[in-house]
Amino acid sequence: MKWLSSKYVLPLAIVTLLISICLQCAWIRQLYLAQSSSVANKLESVVSEASKNAVYKSIAQGHEKSARFQQFFLSPEWISLRQAFDNLKVDNLRSRFHYGITNDSSVVEMKMSFLNDSTKKVSHTSAAVIDGKSKKEVVITDQKDLKLMDSLVNLKLDQLGISIISSYALYDYSSGQLVKGKSLPKSTSSFTSGKYTYNLKFQNRYQLLVPSTTALVIYQMRYYLISSLLMLALTTAAFYLIIRLMKNQQLYAQARISFTSNMTHELQTPIATIAVALESISKYKLIDQPERLESYLDISRYELQRLRNMIEKVLKQEQMDLGGAGLEFTLFDVQSQLEQVIHSMEIQVQEKHAQITLLPASEPYFIKADLMHISNVIYNLIDNALKYSAEPAKIEIACSIVAKVVLISVKDNGPGIDELYQDQVFERFFRISTADSVHDVKGSGLGLHYVKQVIERHQGRIVLQSKLGKGSNFMIYLPLYEED
Ligand SMILES: Nc1ncnc2c1ncn2[C@@H]1O[C@H](COP(=O)(O)OP(=O)(O)OP(=O)(O)O)[C@@H](O)[C@H]1O
Ligand SMILES: [Mg+2]
Repeated sequence: MKWLSSKYVLPLAIVTLLISICLQCAWIRQLYLAQSSSVANKLESVVSEASKNAVYKSIAQGHEKSARFQQFFLSPEWISLRQAFDNLKVDNLRSRFHYGITNDSSVVEMKMSFLNDSTKKVSHTSAAVIDGKSKKEVVITDQKDLKLMDSLVNLKLDQLGISIISSYALYDYSSGQLVKGKSLPKSTSSFTSGKYTYNLKFQNRYQLLVPSTTALVIYQMRYYLISSLLMLALTTAAFYLIIRLMKNQQLYAQARISFTSNMTHELQTPIATIAVALESISKYKLIDQPERLESYLDISRYELQRLRNMIEKVLKQEQMDLGGAGLEFTLFDVQSQLEQVIHSMEIQVQEKHAQITLLPASEPYFIKADLMHISNVIYNLIDNALKYSAEPAKIEIACSIVAKVVLISVKDNGPGIDELYQDQVFERFFRISTADSVHDVKGSGLGLHYVKQVIERHQGRIVLQSKLGKGSNFMIYLPLYEED
């Protein structure tokens, strides 16, 4: 499937992400509008409910518990009728509301009269019914009722778990003019309730003002917002992981190809050498020349040993990958083991005209580890330092203690490793593809992968410090053995 080529994956992922972000934004906008209107309805019903209760409570004392009063004054029909009557504001209409108590009955009276003279404008007469009380007394009662209304609104808001900054405005019942508070400037996020009466004296009407409902709406949408963000984050993470996995697989495939070609080359060289040696023995009848025969046999033995080493290396790696290589833990002194490995590599060091220094530690450091694997690890690191550094290589090996952990460092003055590859060099088959390292220096790309696995199986870690052109320092941390 050519169209499914990996180069289309990244743009496809970006387009898909952008589309999902746009869809999420559109959805959140719709949700915001719906939530805003639901919040407005809720606030409106809070004020209307408070008005209903406040008006009922203002009914002449002694009647509050009357079932008939309750049935009438709390009925939705009465509320609508009264609200409609309150809102009737037509030119030359005089409306009047009266509530009073006579000897044997309570009187609710609504009266409307139109003035016939259309040129003469009238103001709505004050509908306040003073019921024999002085104006001052009426104002005091009105203040008390207003307080009750405001506290009922706030109580209801608390009960609904709505916390907002709000205030109120008062409008004269008859003239409709603002008598207290400020009207809010019109904005999409502000809320202004209808005007509601709060007692039967009809002095003023109450209006709830909320400068901004945005925070409340967003708070109410929090679960949708979190889930939407989470979905976007998960989609991004999934795409990122898929793309990274694909890139790694491509790298792995490339590395495997170069491993095969390297290995084939490495295997072919000894086979060809042995073949030539054997052919020469028979062709030139070297049986009769024991000295030359011995020398050809030596070459063959050496090449066979090289073949065996290579096969063993691949097999060891395979075992390590499968987690099958059982480790044999013994207690040993790291420093003396380092000395032994360095000693065993003397010929290679001399061949490369390298200088290898072991910085002596003041005391022996014991670790409990697999001696053979740890020696292989040191061998691999020194081998790399020798292989990749230009002559004359300078290698410094040191051993120290850092917070109950043994630190072994192998430092060289070689070409260094670009930061880009510092994680990848520990991957299986990975080799840095520069003309120098791949074609001139042979290798399978297994060494550092093996090193890392061995160290991790010993509960240690390996850190690479390197700068291009400034050498490399491989630092191994292994737990120090402590007697209980
Ligand atoms: N000391 C070093 N200096 C510079 N580059 C290094 C050094 N050690 C490793 N590298 C780079 O890291 C790559 C991986 O190293 P690794 O030891 O895993 O494989 P190798 O040496 O190529 O093969 P092998 O060790 O299996 O024979 C090398 O190909 C080399 O490019
Ligand atoms: Mg190596």
